Order: sequence, then structure tokens, then C-alpha cells
Amino acid sequence: MTTTKSITARYPSNIALVKYWGKYGEQMPCNASLSMTLSQAFTEVKLSYTQKKSKAPALVYSFNGQPHELFRQRIFNYVTRQKAYTQLLEHYSLRMESTNSFPHSTGIASSASAFAAIAAALLKANSASEMNFTRKASCLARLGSGSACRSFYGPFVLWGQLDDIRGSSNDYAIPVNAVHPNFRRMSDAILIVEDAPKKVSSSTGHALMSGHPFANARFKQANKHCLAMVAALKSGDFDAFISITEREALSLHAMMMTSQDYYFLIKPKTLEIIEQITQFRKDTKLPLCFTLDAGPNVHVLYPESIQSEVHSFLKQISIKSIIYDHAGVGGTVF
Ligand code: DP6
Repeated sequence: MTTTKSITARYPSNIALVKYWGKYGEQMPCNASLSMTLSQAFTEVKLSYTQKKSKAPALVYSFNGQPHELFRQRIFNYVTRQKAYTQLLEHYSLRMESTNSFPHSTGIASSASAFAAIAAALLKANSASEMNFTRKASCLARLGSGSACRSFYGPFVLWGQLDDIRGSSNDYAIPVNAVHPNFRRMSDAILIVEDAPKKVSSSTGHALMSGHPFANARFKQANKHCLAMVAALKSGDFDAFISITEREALSLHAMMMTSQDYYFLIKPKTLEIIEQITQFRKDTKLPLCFTLDAGPNVHVLYPESIQSEVHSFLKQISIKSIIYDHAGVGGTVF
């Protein structure tokens, strides 16, 4: 008799405040990055595994209820490359049913939440009582998509080795401890300028950093920003938080615009919104700021305490739609 077991993993996406842009070797980051974990934007993966006789690996995959060959192929390649899953793949055929709580191509990193959930589900299925489960899952998720390794903790997470931060590593992410109460309840409103799929993939963007004339300066800047951001998060310094977050978003896009094969992901509307946000901050002195992912959509970050003022301000912006989210603490397997 064949038995089927199943495990469900639910993991959120995250938005980088200090950006990972440039990688080498096996998904190693060229600089440290620091993110805020989201909570409403998550991927849920139900992994069912059934005993089989043949040793050939088998994976059936669906995304939001439909087969998706492109995603299946990427995940199959990932799963078959990791030694950690060998046992599982040899003895079981796998079925993954993946669903996202948020629409695709909206400036929310779906590969981050997806690979966090996939890595956690597979690791749990491979060995139920894994020591250092979260650290290992973060490491395995990184091998699927770099930013995914940061979705295991919250609200703020650091990935990348920095001499001044004990326990930091290029292999996995670690939580930022002792965050000041000012930053304990942060919100993120995602203003959707465009919801079309990205013109240039993150992988292509990362690759363009090798040989980029400003690469070394950029990697140094990001490492410095991580240290300054950790200090700001601990001391409760909103001015530093805002300054670092906004310059990081602009540095990321400056890298794209100055690559050998340069490209633009921001749109005129993106700039218009950025100006409205910075003007509103000047007028009101409220601690809100913008950040950008690899796309035209604008993330507005602010503490929950100024939610009503920010919501009325956002109502004045003419925009397709807004997704409201807030900082979270990571995911679970059940
Ligand atoms: C701009 O994690 O999507 O969102 O490792 O190739 O999967 P891969 O890249 P990915 O890159 C994320 C880039 C970013 C910045 C960030 O999240 O730090």
C-alpha cells in the first residue's frame, strides 16, 4: 500500500531596505542586505509526498490551482540540485500546490515567499526533527532565490557577512535584534504603478553587476548602509532610516541605468509619486519614506502610529491600486 503524507508551509515576502544586487558562486551576495518582512503577502505551499519504487525524481506542480510548466521546471532544477533533498526525492514522488495571497507582478517579490515556503516544506518532509531548522531552511531558500533567505524572521532581517555583526553570514540570514519600539509596528503601502511582468529579470540584473564600473563602490555603500541601518533600528532613529532607505532604492535603480546593457524599470509616474511623498514629508514632518523593488511600483513605509494621516495622503494620489501590508515575523510549517 502506498502512503501519502503532506506538509504545508506558509512564508511571507520581504522588502529590502538595503538592497542585494550582485551575486557570485552559489548564490553568494556581493554585499550584505537588510529587509523588512511582510505579513499579508505570503506564499502557501502544500507539499504531498507519496512513496515510489523508481529512483527517478518526480515533481507535479501547480500555481494558484493551474499547472505552470515554467515554475515547475525552475523548482525541479532547484530540488534536484540540493543534497539536502536527495533522500526525499529518491523515495517519494512530490506534488506541490502553491498559492500566493497577492497578485503577481505587483512589486512584491514572489520568488522570496515561494522559495522560503518550498525550502521549509521540503526540509521538514526530508527530516521532521532537523536541528537549527530555520537556519538550514534559510540557507536552502537562498539557493532558490537570494532574497528568500530573509523571509524566515522579522520584522528586520540581515543577510550577508559583516565583520561588525556577530553571527552574520553569506549563507543564511539572521534577525536584527533589540529593535527600538519606534520600529516595532511598521506598515508598507504598495502603490501599483504597473502590474505587468518585469522587462528584465533579477538574475539578468545581478549578472550586469559583474564588470559594472561602479560595482565596488556600490557593494561598499550597501555594507556601510547595513551597519548604519542596524544602528538606526536599535536607536529608533527615523531620520537615518529614511535617508538610508531612499538612497538605497535610488542606488539600485542607478545601477540598472548605468549597466553596460542599461535599462529603466521606473516610470514617470514612479518619479511623480516619489516627489509627492518627499513633499508631503517636508510639509508635515511625518516619518514616512519610499523604497523601490526591481520595478516601477512604490513601497511607502511608515509606522502604524501615523496610519490615518498616511492613508488620507495616499487617497490623493491617482494610482491603479494600493496593497496594504505591515511588518511580520516570518512563516510557519504545519
Ligand atoms: C532588487 O532574490 O530576486 O529585490 O537571487 O536571482 O533570485 P535571485 O534574485 P532576487 O533579487 C532581489 C533583488 C531585489 C533586492 C533585494 O531583495 O534585496
